[in-house]
Amino acid sequence: MALDVIFEISELRRIVSGWKSDGMKVAFVPTMGALHEGHLSLVTLAKTENARVVVSVFVNPLQFGPSEDFARYPRTLKEDIEKLKTVDADVVFAPSATEMYPTGFQTTIHNNGLATVLCGKVRPTHFDGMLTVVAKLLNVVNPNYALFGKKDYQQWRIVERMVRDLGMLVEIRGCEIIREADGLAMSSRNRFLPPEDRAQAHLIYEGLTATKSAWIEGERSSEALRAIFSVIVSRSPKMIIQYSEIVDCFSLLPAAEKVGNVSLVMIVAVLFGDVRLIDNLEF
Ligand code: PAJ
Repeated sequence: MALDVIFEISELRRIVSGWKSDGMKVAFVPTMGALHEGHLSLVTLAKTENARVVVSVFVNPLQFGPSEDFARYPRTLKEDIEKLKTVDADVVFAPSATEMYPTGFQTTIHNNGLATVLCGKVRPTHFDGMLTVVAKLLNVVNPNYALFGKKDYQQWRIVERMVRDLGMLVEIRGCEIIREADGLAMSSRNRFLPPEDRAQAHLIYEGLTATKSAWIEGERSSEALRAIFSVIVSRSPKMIIQYSEIVDCFSLLPAAEKVGNVSLVMIVAVLFGDVRLIDNLEF
């Protein structure tokens, strides 16, 4: 099937309800564009159940803070469309800001728990902005399921929580992180790394895997585990750890010093000059 590029909510609704009345399942992959293999892996997974796949491309102003990179966030719709053709997506939904936020828009979603830890501490308005656009997109697309990357682990958990809290009729799926050959998690922001920084960025994943190895070998002190990460990342003098936490994978709260059998994830944010990179590894 050819890829349709849709800009208007009414048109998208018409297409999706047509699919549904033909008995098709509908899968949804929300993105901000500048697509890479990580995004495309979500579309490929979405296609596996013979579903129709809608991919949204919308750089959501609500989820950027005043001093963040909204203005310079890459906008590459033409290239994105070509990439989406290669993975057999069915519809690209690329609304304008006024289509998403019509004049007088005044309703937002607020999370008061999971959104207040980790990235939420340094980006206080980010997750509410993200939830607001995701809630609207889910309403507009009305998919059977939506796919989120574990690359943005906290985002995935917060979206799951919203869907449960508000009784939204959609299944949320978390998908594995796609990495570059040297281990760096793929991200639209990697392109902002100057070559000398890009060459060092593998240290983040190296630090995460070394920490996980220590955990597997029996180290249970969060301090000791975080120190392993810090030593490895400090091999690059330019990298500053904004946070590194070993947390319960559902509550995202720091695991106790001596952790039992709860599932853990180590989540980190690292600053490389003005480029902020996040990554994580499930233990
Ligand atoms: P964006 O950063 O474009 O990411 C879109 C989706 O792709 C997210 O679910 C993200 O976790 C996933 N993704 C990004 N890099 C990945 C990688 N290396 N491996 C696997 N999945 C990856 O996340 C957003 O956009 C926005 O916040 C959005 C949900 C679209 C709301 O505006």
